[in-house]
Amino acid sequence: MDRASSSSTAGGEQSDVDWLALAAAAASAMKNAYAPYSKFPVGAAALTEDGRIVSGCNVENASYGLTLCAECALVGNLRMTGGGLLRAFYCVDGGGNVLMPCGRCRQLLYEFRAPGMELMTTQGIKTMDQVLPDAFGPQHLEETR
Ligand code: THU
Repeated sequence: MDRASSSSTAGGEQSDVDWLALAAAAASAMKNAYAPYSKFPVGAAALTEDGRIVSGCNVENASYGLTLCAECALVGNLRMTGGGLLRAFYCVDGGGNVLMPCGRCRQLLYEFRAPGMELMTTQGIKTMDQVLPDAFGPQHLEETR
């Protein structure tokens, strides 16, 4: 069974997420990438708690450091289409291979994670806590107020 259709988490539990649909949505989003500088198109897709699929692609800039990762567009799309939280996430490169979200984007995803959110990784399905352990989050802002 290939990675896209596997449905077991790292802990061996079954995932009820339609990972193939998410992989397809991520690959479709990737086709919209604007990546003339890196030539590394990326697509990301996520399943929301209420069953929507939101997606995004990377958008680069001549001022290289202003590049927007695919996850930036995805969280914008999440907010623009009804908000809510993310249950599952899938990111692909130009070849449709699973891509790990970069460090900054793990933080973006953490903000909008539903409890138990799952991510497809190069090592199979993992949880948000596994890919961003000991994360900084909204809870820390509350602690010091
Ligand atoms: N990229 C993403 O879109 N998401 C990630 O999580 C990793 C990197 C993009 C940014 C840039 O346009 C290209 O990949 C090469 O770094």
